[in-house]
Amino acid sequence: MRPVALILGFKTLWVLAFSSLSNTLAVNNSGRWWGIINVASSTNLLTDSKNVHLVLDPSLQLLSRKQRKLIRQNPGVLHSISSGLQSAIKECKWQFRNRRWNCPTTQGPHIFGKIVNRGCRETAFIFAITSAGVTHSVARSCSEGSIESCTCDYRRRGPGGPDWHWGGCSDNVDFGRVFGREFVDSNEKGRDLRFLMNLHNNEAGRMTVFSEMRQECKCHGMSGSCTVKTCWMRLPTFRTVGDFLKDRFDGASRVIYGNKGSNRASRVEGPHLEPENPAHKPPSPHDLVYFEKSPNFCTYSGKMGTAGTAGRFCNSSSPALDGCELLCCGRGYRTRTQRVTERCNCTFHWCCHVSCLNCTNIQVLHECL
Ligand SMILES: *[C@@H]1O[C@H](CO)[C@@H](O)[C@H](O)[C@H]1NC(C)=O
Ligand SMILES: *[C@@H]1O[C@H](CO)[C@@H](O)[C@H](O)[C@H]1NC(C)=O
Ligand SMILES: *[C@@H]1O[C@H](CO)[C@@H](O)[C@H](O)[C@H]1NC(C)=O
Ligand SMILES: *[C@@H]1O[C@H](CO)[C@@H](O)[C@H](O)[C@H]1NC(C)=O
Repeated sequence: MRPVALILGFKTLWVLAFSSLSNTLAVNNSGRWWGIINVASSTNLLTDSKNVHLVLDPSLQLLSRKQRKLIRQNPGVLHSISSGLQSAIKECKWQFRNRRWNCPTTQGPHIFGKIVNRGCRETAFIFAITSAGVTHSVARSCSEGSIESCTCDYRRRGPGGPDWHWGGCSDNVDFGRVFGREFVDSNEKGRDLRFLMNLHNNEAGRMTVFSEMRQECKCHGMSGSCTVKTCWMRLPTFRTVGDFLKDRFDGASRVIYGNKGSNRASRVEGPHLEPENPAHKPPSPHDLVYFEKSPNFCTYSGKMGTAGTAGRFCNSSSPALDGCELLCCGRGYRTRTQRVTERCNCTFHWCCHVSCLNCTNIQVLHECL
């Protein structure tokens, strides 16, 4: 085991020798990199001089040697990964805000909790959205110039159509995808069903970012006459990515482990995923895959790592998943009222201030028992 020296500070030189933690915990390294969400101040990490990366943060011990190397080789990328991960968590919570499982996260190294060691749809979504977050954020950082080793994607040049040509700065989704594969997938090293599932869902996340790229154009010429148009490729908003992945969550494929010599029609060699139901089509690279039923998320379970829905707010008039009946799993709910004061009837006075009234409304809240 070769100790890796990481050095921080301009005046003081700190040298930390890490024994390779990743080797001792080889069993489940899946998603360990998520722990870098806790990197104290990623701005420190942008200041790179020579070839030494200036890092002293325990969160980085969660990374494998390969991941740390990628961070050293691509100054600025750690900040980008960390902000991509934050967007992914925010999006996950938003997409699932009305469901029993509402993408809970905790402080500490295991931010998504025990659900990541399972193989259910929720696990699939977490892997896909966080992988998409890295690709999206890195692709954008390249075009913003905040990663030293990449730039805008300038490969699209010249005429693109009869009345437009490529120009400007395209988001570098190819760099984002390749980097994501190297960085995010590098912990998924087994050959069993769980690893195949995680790798598939990681790729589905990246694929969604890639396939939702949009062309944007700008007109030039006399007073916007649009005689000349230049166009470039722009990343989708992360909300778009979240919406797509949420749809794929709802339509996820349940899979089993397939291997060479299996009697299925597929001619894939080696370990691969097959639909559990032989009548179904094999999952496409866009699909999310899972292999076990989700827990019901109704009640607290330390073993499963589920918090349960007691105390959650529900909608008493909704028949859907956010309705009290389903969200509270039939246990019922209590109702309380709350006075909410907000600014209302604002008027604009020339020039320049706005005056508002204070309106007090009574808000009715329903809370699962
Ligand atoms: C590792 O994964 C197994 C399931 O594969 C799980 O039971 C165990 O708790 C996990 N260990 C850690 C430290 O997360
Ligand atoms: C509650 O559900 C109803 C019916 O689906 C919907 O019209 C209403 O906007 C919801 N209320 C809130 C606060 O979300
Ligand atoms: C706010 O304005 C609306 C109409 O513009 C009026 O009906 C209402 O009474 C006003 N609210 C208050 C608190 O003055
Ligand atoms: C509204 O409330 C704020 C703070 O509660 C107060 O400072 C302000 O004077 C109030 N405005 C009016 C118009 O009553």
